[in-house]
Amino acid sequence: MKKLFITLGAISIMGLTPLLTFASPQSDLQEFRAYYFKKFPGIKLQDYANGIYALDKARRFEWQASEEFPPYEEAVDIGKKLFNKYGLKNCFKKGGIGVKQNYPYFDKKTGKVRTLEKDIMACLKKNGVDTKKEKLKYKKGKFAAISAYMAYTSRGNKINVVIPNDKRALAAYEAGKRFFYAKRGQLNFSCANCHIDSVGMMVRGNLLGPALGQTSHWPAWRKKWAKKSAKKRGGDSKPLDGLGTLQRRYGGCNKNIRAKPLKAQSVGYSDLEYFHTYMSNGIKLNGPAVRQ
Ligand code: HEC
Repeated sequence: MKKLFITLGAISIMGLTPLLTFASPQSDLQEFRAYYFKKFPGIKLQDYANGIYALDKARRFEWQASEEFPPYEEAVDIGKKLFNKYGLKNCFKKGGIGVKQNYPYFDKKTGKVRTLEKDIMACLKKNGVDTKKEKLKYKKGKFAAISAYMAYTSRGNKINVVIPNDKRALAAYEAGKRFFYAKRGQLNFSCANCHIDSVGMMVRGNLLGPALGQTSHWPAWRKKWAKKSAKKRGGDSKPLDGLGTLQRRYGGCNKNIRAKPLKAQSVGYSDLEYFHTYMSNGIKLNGPAVRQ
């Protein structure tokens, strides 16, 4: 495994990762896409919503089969019930239905990036829900089920993240961008090293997917997560076991390179999500989805 990482490392040194220069979000986005379009001429913008399954036929076939009887279906139903039970429609535009494409957004009042999960949590608290008692925590379980339901109602809507012309919004975007390109952890990898420079290559039996489109399908259902939760409980799997949010996945990718993950919904990860999702503007949401 070490050898594989070393090979990848050598590639990324010669690498294609652009130097961090100050550019407008718009020109960043064009450069970001142009790289993938050149590398994979047959893959269209909308196909990037499918991650590694856009790159590999055999894996796509297997994945499409699992999406026919989606393991997250019950989670979406549970999410809907919880959404209604906690009165979440009161805090969102359009009653919270079909709004995910506008997340994350920059909140001028607080000067901070707001993710969908942050707004869900704020609403729960506003409605007097005892989130501790109800075991509503960022990243998974019932909380992720609510997020999954809201994602489900937004399917087909094109991602539309706005970076307003506000110094603080641009600073948050730049911080997210720096996070994405900065090397970290004992293995000294950046997100870009794996998901840009080495996209399409294998690492420990995993195909490295493109960063473009990576934010379209959250929360995702992963077998790995399902197994982990069931094992922890020492029993059979339950409907919400495999579910996790995008920031849960960020944590996993940080751990893989032996970097300490940030807390879910920290400023660091939320800025990252802001940059990362902006790069996928125009791609249709297709969450929740099954992922490896
Ligand atoms: C050592 C290589 C490596 C690094 C570094 C890395 N990842 Fe990953 N990442 C993977 C692999 C392998 C997968 C699973 C295959 C895939 O979907 O690309 C993955 C999956 C993901 C996914 C899920 C993709 C999907 O379609 O569900 C996201 C999101 C992600 N990574 C984001 C990041 C971010 C953000 C960073 C930097 C903080 C990062 N990754 C750093 C290897 C890496």
